[in-house]
Amino acid sequence: MGELSVKHLLGIKYLHEKDIQLIFETADHFKEVINRSIKKVPSLRDITIANIFFENSTRTKLSFELAEKRLSADVLNFSAAQSSLKKGETLIDTVNNILSMKVDMVVMRHPNPGAGIFLSKHVSAVIINAGDGAHEHPTQALLDSYSIREKLGDVSGKNVVIVGDILHSRVALSNIFALKLQGANVKVCGPKTLIPKHIESLGVKVETNLEKALQWCDVANMLRVQNERMDISYFPTTREYTQQYGVNRGILDKLDKEIVIMHPGPINRGVEITSDVADSDQSIILNQVENGVAIRMAVIYLLASKIK
Ligand code: CP
Repeated sequence: MGELSVKHLLGIKYLHEKDIQLIFETADHFKEVINRSIKKVPSLRDITIANIFFENSTRTKLSFELAEKRLSADVLNFSAAQSSLKKGETLIDTVNNILSMKVDMVVMRHPNPGAGIFLSKHVSAVIINAGDGAHEHPTQALLDSYSIREKLGDVSGKNVVIVGDILHSRVALSNIFALKLQGANVKVCGPKTLIPKHIESLGVKVETNLEKALQWCDVANMLRVQNERMDISYFPTTREYTQQYGVNRGILDKLDKEIVIMHPGPINRGVEITSDVADSDQSIILNQVENGVAIRMAVIYLLASKIK
C-alpha cells in the first residue's frame, strides 16, 4: 500500500489526486470490514486519539469516534463547553495538556479558519481538521466524492453543482478542491450575496438560476444557509430564498433526467430541500453518512502509519 504525501489532514488544498485515490482504495477495504459481522480490526491498538470539538457536531463527531473504535484505537472525547477553556486556558495549553497523556492524534473542529494549521505548527501530534470555521472540512469532501464515485462509477468528467450558502461553507471550498483535483466540472449556484467574489479563480463557474444549474448537472450538493455565521442579512426572507434556491419535487420533475441529490447535513427541511426530495431514491444523503465512517477509518489509518 502507498502512503499519503502529508503528515496531517488540514485541508484538501494540501492533497494530491493520488492521495485521494489512496484514501478511496483504503476506504473500499474498510467499507467491506464494517459490513462484516465482526466490524473491528486491531490495526491501531497502540494509538490514542483525542477528538476535540469547539463547535457543535453530530455526524462528524460520531463518525470519527466510530471509525477510531472500529480501528481499535484508544479514544478521548473533549468538549470545549465542559472544559477549562472557560477558565481562560489557551488552545495550545489545552492541547499540550491532552498530549502529555500520550495522545498520538488530534481530530479538531474549531470555529476559527486555520485553527488546525496553527495547531500543527505548535504540537507534535498528527492533526486532522474536522472543520475550521468557513475554511475547510476535508473529510466531508472526501466522503462526498467517495459517494459520487460509488453512485456514478467515477468523479472525473461529472457535472457537479454546489447550491446555497457558498460564502460561509467549508464544505463548499473543500468540495471544490476535491472535485477539481479529480477532474469533475463544478458550478456553484446561489444568491450573488452568498457567492464569494473571484470564486471563478478556483476553476468553477457561477450560475444564479437554479433550474439551469440542475439541468446542467449530474449531481446537486445542497447546502444549508449558515445563519450562525451571518451578522447581516444576505437575502430578503427565508421564504424568498426557498422559492429561488430550494430544491423540491416540482423542480426535479421538470428536468429531462434524474440527478443525484446530496447534502452534508444538518438539513433544514423545507428551506434548501423538501422532505420528499431528501427522503427519495434520488437522494444519497444517508449513503454519505455511512461512507463517512469508512473514509475516516482510511484517513486515520493512513496518517497513523506515518507516526514514528
Ligand atoms: N456534515 C457535518 O459536518 O455535520 P455535523 O456538523 O453534524 O458534524
